[in-house]
Amino acid sequence: MPNTVLIGAQWGDEGKGKIIDVLASQVDIVVRYQGGNNAGHTVKIGDEHYVLHLIPSGILRDEQVCVIGNGLVVNPAALLDEVAEVEAAGKKVQGRLFVSDRAHMVFPYHRAIDAAREALLAEGSKIGTTGRGIGPCYSDKVTRTGLRAGDMLTSEFPELLLARLREANKMLRAMGGEILDENAVLEEYLAIAERMRPYIKDTVTYLNDAIKAGQTVLFEGAQGTMLDIDFGTYPFVTSSNATAGGACTGSGVAPHRIDRVVGVIKAYTTRVGEGPFPTELFDADGKRMRDAGGEYGATTGRPRRCGWFDAVVGRYSARINGVDFWAMTKLDVLDTFETLRVCTAYEYEGQRLMELPASVRMLEKCTPIYEELPGWCEPTSHITVYDDLPERARTYVEYLCALTGVPLGILSVGPKRESTLRLGL
Ligand code: GDP
Ligand code: IMO
Ligand code: MG
Repeated sequence: MPNTVLIGAQWGDEGKGKIIDVLASQVDIVVRYQGGNNAGHTVKIGDEHYVLHLIPSGILRDEQVCVIGNGLVVNPAALLDEVAEVEAAGKKVQGRLFVSDRAHMVFPYHRAIDAAREALLAEGSKIGTTGRGIGPCYSDKVTRTGLRAGDMLTSEFPELLLARLREANKMLRAMGGEILDENAVLEEYLAIAERMRPYIKDTVTYLNDAIKAGQTVLFEGAQGTMLDIDFGTYPFVTSSNATAGGACTGSGVAPHRIDRVVGVIKAYTTRVGEGPFPTELFDADGKRMRDAGGEYGATTGRPRRCGWFDAVVGRYSARINGVDFWAMTKLDVLDTFETLRVCTAYEYEGQRLMELPASVRMLEKCTPIYEELPGWCEPTSHITVYDDLPERARTYVEYLCALTGVPLGILSVGPKRESTLRLGL
């Protein structure tokens, strides 16, 4: 398979984990390039159900090497727990998982600051973060006070971490947050640093040498385009570039080594956390989507907000990421709906908007303009060939592709590997 970037085209939870697992068998290396353990990527294999937060979903295959790129913020304690879980499931991890020596580390003070910041924000301004310390760790990266995986292996690490802990406690005191026991955290993380040693590697050299030698790479995005720090519904976003550009900066692989981009997009829309969501449903249809789609956060368990497909978002994502193919997921969730609605444009103060406004103040005032399509009202999860789908289901999918200007590469009609219809991919 050509070197491929896989991104989420909406607000995350599009089913990236499932699609990565499907595509991973065709590459040598899977590399995550941004985010942290705010992500929750679910893979269902037979009756087993795995949720990965930091480790690329390719680890559930047998051969592939998995890389946690420099663009991530890694909670090393959470990573070691996840390694133990994957090993308990019978998968080999040692020698197959590498963490970039340039990846920033999430420490307990990042989580404490995340919680304290959210508590201080007024109602209506809260982000609804996953509480994993992601924003504060990326803040430290940008303000140049972060500690990276490679730093953990140096003799200066104890004094560096202690200095950061003292500084963080000062901040936490001022914010009314949880004060950390500096020596206890230091001791704990010195032990964790040693356990991280076998995984830490110069992954930039490794990846570029592998590509030069003809190996192929799948770049695994986390979150989604609408949660991207630059292109999402700022400030109700995460703190990294979840879009395709993040694949280069988050892995150290140059743009011209990447051959194509696959966008994972749900046949409807969901969002977890706060922020505008024009097609959100507050009625029985929204509840039906949540129940049928099992729409509860894979990381925090929060119920996901559900709504109709938004083609304004789809077109915007297609453009920013340069999506070559959609991997459209969860079509089966719509099996029981008699009528389906699709947002084709927004109305803003009497004007028709075809493009997504930059300001959330504007987006909050946008109302969707809908087209209606008849539902197919029959099960689709057992179908394995695209042409066997009910005609109305095909019309719906083809309408979404036409509205967003992207061809279909994969259609997913259930959480398992078997429920995957391959078209151009
Ligand atoms: P990710 O964060 O993008 O990897 O997505 P999540 O794993 O957070 O959420 C997607 C959920 O939908 C998971 O529970 C998947 O098992 C499930 N899923 C993925 N594809 C399909 C599908 O085509 N149909 C159904 N019904 N469920 C799916
Ligand atoms: P995957 O990879 C859905 C959301 C949070 C919150 C905002 C900021 O599974 O698609 P953060 O903790 O990142 O500072 O929270 O981003 N969020 C996600 N929503 N899926 C995710 O990841 C998410 N990761 C973060 O709910 O609104
Ligand atoms: Mg998820």
